[in-house]
Amino acid sequence: MNTFIIIIFSVVSVTIGAVLLVAFSVVIAAPVTRGAMFHPSARIRVKTALDHLPMTQEQYLVDLGCGDGRVIRAAARLYGARCRGYEINPLPFVIAWVLSLGRPQVSVRWRNFWREDLGKADVVFCYLFPDVMPQLAGKLREELRPGCRVVSCNFPLPGWTPVKMVRPSATMYNDPIYFYEQGPDRRQPTCRDT
Ligand SMILES: C[S@@+](CC[C@H](N)C(=O)[O-])C[C@H]1O[C@@H](n2cnc3c(N)ncnc32)[C@H](O)[C@@H]1O
Repeated sequence: MNTFIIIIFSVVSVTIGAVLLVAFSVVIAAPVTRGAMFHPSARIRVKTALDHLPMTQEQYLVDLGCGDGRVIRAAARLYGARCRGYEINPLPFVIAWVLSLGRPQVSVRWRNFWREDLGKADVVFCYLFPDVMPQLAGKLREELRPGCRVVSCNFPLPGWTPVKMVRPSATMYNDPIYFYEQGPDRRQPTCRDT
């Protein structure tokens, strides 16, 4: 009987602890993320995006809101590229950090990406939320160097014209993935923009 009570008590404690941890991480992150909550990209979507983003080992990919870090790890594995993820939600940040241990090309930072300068990136990946896309479009236009590529899952960048748009073949995961490229002049639309 005692063992049974201890097991029940342990299960309830772990469950309550987990709920509190998730609630705490959401409360910490919510004012910054403005709706872009942790929702990892499906593997097929990560693969589709990266297959359309050939990179060299010298290139540098940044994931704005990297969640559990699956995109940066996949890009490092596929291309040997240097990859950095910024994540403000402590729970996915810790998961991303732990899963990226022992991968020298991958770094994860617990930071608000709005405060980071993106001028060194060759590729920027994002899967965020419609409310933040207008502000993000301006930040990327200001900071990215000419030729830098941007991939945005699900939501387009207002004012930018995609170089291409793809949909993964898997029916459940076929929301659009938009690909962009910074033009030769940071202040000007790309030559492909109208
Ligand atoms: C929809 S998830 C995408 C995760 C990952 N990029 C993927 O595709 O699997 C968006 C993530 O962005 C993070 N995020 C949103 N705004 C952020 C900010 N300003 N700074 C850092 N992380 C942010 C959220 O906490 C969330 O984990």
